[in-house]
Amino acid sequence: MSAQIIDGKALAAATKAEAAAEAAALKAKGIEPCLAVILVGENPASQVYVRGKVKDCGECGIKSLELRMPETTTQEELLAKIAELAADKTVNGILVQLPLPKQIDERAVIDAIPPEKDVDGFSPVNVGRMQTGQPCFLPCTPAGCIRMIESTGTKIDGKNAVVIGRSNIVGKPAALLLLAKNATVTVCHSHTANLKEICANADILVAAVGRAGFVTGDMVKPGAVVIDVGINRGADGKLHGDVNFEEASAVAGYITPVPGGVGPMTRAMLITTLYRMSGSPAVTGENPYSDVPAGSYYEKAVIWAMQKGVANGMGGGKFEPDTRVTRQQAVTMLYRYAVKIAGI
Ligand code: GUN
Repeated sequence: MSAQIIDGKALAAATKAEAAAEAAALKAKGIEPCLAVILVGENPASQVYVRGKVKDCGECGIKSLELRMPETTTQEELLAKIAELAADKTVNGILVQLPLPKQIDERAVIDAIPPEKDVDGFSPVNVGRMQTGQPCFLPCTPAGCIRMIESTGTKIDGKNAVVIGRSNIVGKPAALLLLAKNATVTVCHSHTANLKEICANADILVAAVGRAGFVTGDMVKPGAVVIDVGINRGADGKLHGDVNFEEASAVAGYITPVPGGVGPMTRAMLITTLYRMSGSPAVTGENPYSDVPAGSYYEKAVIWAMQKGVANGMGGGKFEPDTRVTRQQAVTMLYRYAVKIAGI
């Protein structure tokens, strides 16, 4: 094996330690971050995931509400529960574990979660904001993938990145985040011709196919960064990634293991998003643009942006690197708007 292992557990532990410190700082200001997790039915994998999320919150000093609803829950009942949590000021983030029983329309449920409490980053508003480079809450798995790639010291800018899989949860947002970091991105899927050749040209390869061992050694460019998002339960009862680890690690420069790679990092990113939304100016009432001169057109632009929810609430005002819009970019956007409304 020549590849260096990207240790998801260690990275996740560091990310969670950061989250715990941020949560403690929020508590000192009188804000208690709180995540509500809804689990409908008895799906065994979902039960494990939800238990993990609740445990992570506890470890980071974050309050969580685990709300279990029966398999027979109707869509109206679930939507009513979401509406209740949406109106509850003590709840900062809402997560409905997917998949849902077949009588419930998943899309309608995601649409019902207010964007400012959408800790998964699945709502159309957050997806649209991500697509257009505005402050938003990102889906945890792709955000974690980016952190893992960057942890190797690899510069994403200018690299060939290939994402295998085009799901709304992983493939599509991973491709967008890589594009936002100036990679040249190719998204491959079940209809892609010349898949092997395309993958073998990737400096960064993200596998999110859901098929154990799908990526073989001959699909990996020597020295590439390989991120394995797959979690497939094998006939042996063990977890297997989408990448044939033995073959790929002989060729790659860096590789994530399964288990112990993307999984723990995804969970850590959920906590990261939660403390960000708990500390957002919409919750704290702080003005992140308090340095803007009073009475100026610029101030009017800021007020406009806040009323629209552009500058306030989403992205926490302190625009984090992961949300793609830096504070400097936001200030520039607002300044341009100020110039426009001033008619100069
Ligand atoms: N089911 C599998 N992955 C996820 C996830 O990231 N969020 C939610 N809500 N459900 C899931």
